[in-house]
Amino acid sequence: MCGVFAYLNYLTPKTRHEILELLLNGLKRMEYRGYDSTGVAIDSPLNKDIVMVKRVGKVKVLEDAVEEHFSGKEYDDPILTHVGIAHTRWATHGVPCEKNSHPQRSDEGNSFIVVHNGIVTNYKDIKTFLEKRGYVFESDTDTEVIAKLVHHLWKKHPGYSFRELVEQVIQQLEGAFSIAIKSKHFPGECVASRRSSPLLVGIKTKTRLSTDHIPILYGKDTDAAKTQEHRPHGQTRELPVLPRTESTSEFMPLEEKEVEYFFASDASAVIEHTNRVIYLEDDDVAAVRDGVLSIHRLKKCLDDPHAREITTLKMEIQQIMKGNYDYFMLKEIFEQPESVVNTMRGRMRFDSDTVVLGGIKDFIPEIKRCRRLMLIGCGTSYHSAVATRQLLEELTELPVMVELASDFLDRNTPIFRDDVCFFISQSGETADSLMALRYCKQRGALIVGITNTVGSSICRESHCGVHINAGPEIGVASTKAYTSQFISLVMFALVMSEDRLSLQQRRLEIIRALSKLPDQIRDVLRLDNQVQELAKDLFQHKSLLIMGRGYNFATCLEGALKVKELTYMHSEGIMAGELKHGPLALIDDRMPVMMIVLRDPVYIKCMNALQQVTSRKGCPIIICEEGDEETKSFSSRSLEIPRTVDCLQGILTVIPMQLLSYHIAVLRGCDVDCPRNLAKSVTVE
Ligand code: F6R
Repeated sequence: MCGVFAYLNYLTPKTRHEILELLLNGLKRMEYRGYDSTGVAIDSPLNKDIVMVKRVGKVKVLEDAVEEHFSGKEYDDPILTHVGIAHTRWATHGVPCEKNSHPQRSDEGNSFIVVHNGIVTNYKDIKTFLEKRGYVFESDTDTEVIAKLVHHLWKKHPGYSFRELVEQVIQQLEGAFSIAIKSKHFPGECVASRRSSPLLVGIKTKTRLSTDHIPILYGKDTDAAKTQEHRPHGQTRELPVLPRTESTSEFMPLEEKEVEYFFASDASAVIEHTNRVIYLEDDDVAAVRDGVLSIHRLKKCLDDPHAREITTLKMEIQQIMKGNYDYFMLKEIFEQPESVVNTMRGRMRFDSDTVVLGGIKDFIPEIKRCRRLMLIGCGTSYHSAVATRQLLEELTELPVMVELASDFLDRNTPIFRDDVCFFISQSGETADSLMALRYCKQRGALIVGITNTVGSSICRESHCGVHINAGPEIGVASTKAYTSQFISLVMFALVMSEDRLSLQQRRLEIIRALSKLPDQIRDVLRLDNQVQELAKDLFQHKSLLIMGRGYNFATCLEGALKVKELTYMHSEGIMAGELKHGPLALIDDRMPVMMIVLRDPVYIKCMNALQQVTSRKGCPIIICEEGDEETKSFSSRSLEIPRTVDCLQGILTVIPMQLLSYHIAVLRGCDVDCPRNLAKSVTVE
């Protein structure tokens, strides 16, 4: 999804070339989010204008254009204080082209320039409102209304500060946004805000920061404030004027002499500069003026805090670098022996066979009393719910429902106060999952977040949760997050069954198996060359069917998703029990098929399916257990994985599928880390 990046240097001299390099680098760090066009805006040294460069395609294309555009000595002169904004766009409204790329501007004079992530759902109404006042739109984007609305209000309220103007504007917006705005009329100032779309502020100072918190400045609860629900639904009447929040000059919340600020959709864009960040909340307006950062909100509700915390990121720069690998995805697949250890670290105590999940332990009694467990997510995260459902049913003895967040919302699924709803999300920002979370929270359910991103929206809006601690996942296709989500849910099942005598033997079997898992993952990764050979057989085919059942059905779904998204081949995960109800018609001697047949409670049934396939001249690639000669004898091609307890097999069977999709993608010449049309963090519904 779109990436917003802004950089403000205050009393820290930087040449325009340095600023551009910094902005482009910020965009490169967010490339993994997925995008189709890019843009950047800085002040021109020649006149008091703002220069924008925008391009369709990769950041590299923008970089070349920037190099061509900005040359000459004046670009090497240092500027003491400056604001630059930059953007990677993933098209929602309007095709990818230069005019639709961000930044978007208010007018030909470049008065206000905005970068935006999200969708303004009422943009048509605002556009009509502005067109009636003479504004002519240049793009097909929803974003352009933001820049033009700021301009309209600036003309109407000449005494308003930049921040006050933006505050007025966001009250008129519906939908989701994170924005950063710069203006010719307010040089050296940057204003940013968010709603349902992530945004953080990075702070870099020469000396240690003088505070750990930034106070929030609230507006007064006047009658005017109550009018903020009014929106300009196509009407031509003027917008309501809202109260101003307290002036920054009285508070001086963060006053450092030389300071640099970064506004970014993502921590990976700022980590090489600073690890001190503030995660903005919905409707926060963060403004920097005279080097002072302040955070404002129009209205104070009962439990609203007095300050936003400045947190220290634990992320290391090496974690977001490719190292010796060609692609982030490959690095992340090979990181799994360590990432699963990090998920279990401090939680699984193998010496005493106990499990502690600090983030939810106080809520366990309440969870045990619940009506049912709902596991909700999208894509790969949803598959981790499918993979662990059976074990959760077994060890919690509760009904467990697994739901795709989008479908769950479409159905207005009934939710009750005694439901416990798990939201599983690598990014913690997926709009469908976040909307579903809010839906469940409003209905009084207990919300448990299973996320990989500290400080993400899902993480902050949950009552309790488990950080999966897989480390930053940059490849768009999720790999190590899946295995860590899987293990987190297994650990939850173990915690829930701690005091069930009848389940102790089973728990022990799982705990012992978890301790061996990292080494077994290493063994599976050694199959890489074999998998690469299989990829050579498969990459020119149009389709790949992946079959299994029981604990391995999730691997079929997840394997097929990986193949589709990375290789653009058709692929389908098929429940082996359903074969005879339709999919068997697809089988002939040319249809590529993979089958997962392990020695677990559904082995006999899987063997039936295998025979149904081979007797129709199908020639499947079999994933079976090490040394299982009998199963192997049904095919000339197989992959042998180590034996583990049934409910953990899915972790070992999914890795060959991750590797296979990777190798097919490379052979087909696909962009492994940034598959076409996809985004890492899907922040629009
Ligand atoms: C597929 C993939 C997606 C995500 C999905 C949810 O490889 O990565 O299917 O799993 O978009 O994203 P998160 O987990 O961030 O909520």
